[in-house]
Amino acid sequence: MGNPSLLILPGDGIGPEVMAQVRRIIGWYSDKRGLQFDVSEDLVGGSAYDAHGTPLTDETMATAQEADAVLLGAVGGPKYDDLDFSVKPERGLLRLRKEMDLFSNLRPAQCFDALADFSSLKKDVVAGLDIMIVRELTSGVYFGEPRGIHKEGNERVGINTQRYTESEIARVARSALELAGRRGNKVCSMEKANVMESGILWREVVTEIHDAEYPDVELSHMYADAGAMQLCRWPKQFDVIVTDNLFGDLLSDCAAMLTGSLGMLPSASLGAPMENGRPKALYEPVHGSAPDIAGQGKANPIACVLSFAMALRYSFDAGAEADRLEAAIEKVLAEGARTADLIGQDGVEPVSTSGMGDTILAALDASL
Ligand code: IPM
Ligand code: MG
Repeated sequence: MGNPSLLILPGDGIGPEVMAQVRRIIGWYSDKRGLQFDVSEDLVGGSAYDAHGTPLTDETMATAQEADAVLLGAVGGPKYDDLDFSVKPERGLLRLRKEMDLFSNLRPAQCFDALADFSSLKKDVVAGLDIMIVRELTSGVYFGEPRGIHKEGNERVGINTQRYTESEIARVARSALELAGRRGNKVCSMEKANVMESGILWREVVTEIHDAEYPDVELSHMYADAGAMQLCRWPKQFDVIVTDNLFGDLLSDCAAMLTGSLGMLPSASLGAPMENGRPKALYEPVHGSAPDIAGQGKANPIACVLSFAMALRYSFDAGAEADRLEAAIEKVLAEGARTADLIGQDGVEPVSTSGMGDTILAALDASL
């Protein structure tokens, strides 16, 4: 068997800058730990649109389907705001998620001790926080039909459809319950069963899968609005949260701020196992393309680097190496390295994107 393949899609805005640091770390693992990858790079989002008139070419889609893992930076930017919906940068990302069938999106929200003061919430509310949001990623209102904007009489109507099949709910429920068994053994499922039929079915199916297959995991249910409130009130009550595509989008941004900065949060989007046993997988930071700071060396590369750590863990069976990388990040933060997003009132000088890369590499060297 050859080296595992990694497709890198830096994308737009700060995507290329943060991904450049990940490439240095991939190089470190190859030089120092003998972990070799066949790395290829391609375009997605606005940069693909600029080159090819589409946010994701069929060729890139085919390469992604074959890759052992895809690493993505970020997509989008104001330059593309007026494009037709069908070719907006985000459509490239959504096509990858849908066609690779990456139904289970893991979004950990962990508060590093060194950053407990950066959250807008009180320190004791967030210190030591370690929760995982499992967001359904290939269905729901993001993809439901019918959709569109059409004319009814003399006014326009915008339509999207929230739609979930039993099997779509069951497979993401399994992935959350399974994961909880390897963590704090608790799952809280969030929907709006009080107003949505899809929410009623969601609650029923999650309960059925739990009772039949994972009875030892502690399962609870919350309406998603109450869940948002509880996430801000006392987030440490949660271990794993499982929720649909749209609620997961909102709740994960909310959870991100508990950790101090959106620049810290990685994600893994996983699908069914491929022939070689690895799951289809795409790893990306939760943050967006941040066009306001793009190209200035200000972006925090940690979310993207931590996404690569998730790839080591979930795609390449290298949990110990993922631990090493996470520990290196913990160390540089404890020693005071801060990109601009992590600067409080104390007048610390921020490090640049590549400066943060330097310190992470030094911490990796020190770990040997
Ligand atoms: C996310 C993003 C995406 C989403 C956008 C960029 C399409 O907000 O991954 O959370 O809405 O899913
Ligand atoms: Mg989002």
